[in-house]
Amino acid sequence: MKNFHDRGIIARYRQYLPVTDATPVVSLNEGSTPLIYSPRLSERVGRGCEIYIKYEGLNPTGSFKDRGMTMAISKAAEEGAKAVICASTGNTSAAAAAYAARAGVKCIVLLPAGKIAMGKLVQAFMYGAKVVAIDGNFDDALRLVREIGETEPISIVNSINPYRIDGQKTASFEIIEELGDAPEIHILPVGNAGNITAYWRGYVEFHAGNKSTKTPKMLGFQAAGSAPIFHNRIIDNPETVASAIRIGNPASWQLASNAIRESQGAIDIVTDIEILEAQRWLANHEGIFVEPASAASIAGLLKCVGEKTGAAFPAARFADGSKIVCTVTGHGLKDPDVAREQCGAIIPAKAEKDEILRHIA
Ligand code: F0G
Repeated sequence: MKNFHDRGIIARYRQYLPVTDATPVVSLNEGSTPLIYSPRLSERVGRGCEIYIKYEGLNPTGSFKDRGMTMAISKAAEEGAKAVICASTGNTSAAAAAYAARAGVKCIVLLPAGKIAMGKLVQAFMYGAKVVAIDGNFDDALRLVREIGETEPISIVNSINPYRIDGQKTASFEIIEELGDAPEIHILPVGNAGNITAYWRGYVEFHAGNKSTKTPKMLGFQAAGSAPIFHNRIIDNPETVASAIRIGNPASWQLASNAIRESQGAIDIVTDIEILEAQRWLANHEGIFVEPASAASIAGLLKCVGEKTGAAFPAARFADGSKIVCTVTGHGLKDPDVAREQCGAIIPAKAEKDEILRHIA
């Protein structure tokens, strides 16, 4: 049998991950995503800064969750799990369902009813998960998953499962290897707060192993209506157009706060209007289409750069010539409905050359 596991993050970073020869590697060749230089964002920031976009939407299920899920499902398979469960705003459930399908284990996903982007919902179904939509939000779903995990023989694959964070830290390794060092600043959207925790862990580990000369300042951006860490209190009814980060009580709250403090970074908020503007701007100017939650990192960078925005980390604090990485976490096609609402009118035309030329003049 051919070994197809020579790619994927476990193959690439095996020595930094808690796997052994007894771990059956469940992989879809995730990771090794492009780090794309952005000339127009670099121009907007100025002062010789270089902006790079880590395009995690190019993972197998269209989001960064695949990095964590290859680890969580591989370990669940090693432990003989017959079923896995997660709460999700959509991307974790898509990844869990796909990797569970590949491992041949049952997958149950708990979703907040009516609040999942269409692309993500159909992924869970197509990968064969049992889809349960609760009349509550993500925080309620995660509480229920924890309760179910206490009594039932089902493995939890949310980021409270430490293997998830271990897998996700590999994005930092890739960035360091590509840039030749860590960047000065790293910007991320923050929801359940696992990813900023994971990136920080990756940066700290590679720095400790002399693979980089420094660690970046971590800047996290929450949606203004779902910003528990920024406001330092649980938000009971979180709201935002960026459904992926519609979370009021993040599981990795404390770890994310530590990452931000230790890195001398900051937590800040962006409004839904800023998020959607950044989403359109990135697609229009750099040809990179991301889902709304992912655009929070771009909106965040633009908030730092803008005047009188009240940014927690204004660009005046960027050193000249800084390398800045923005992670865009999920593909734009995940959420066609929010994107469609922003599109202009389609031009109807007869199938005639002259008429078409009139329209496009
Ligand atoms: N961006 C996207 C596209 C996400 O799906 C998520 C989280 C985040 C950012 C925030 O990352 O939670 O590690 O701070 N999505 C989870 C899910 C909650 O269920 O798919 P985080």
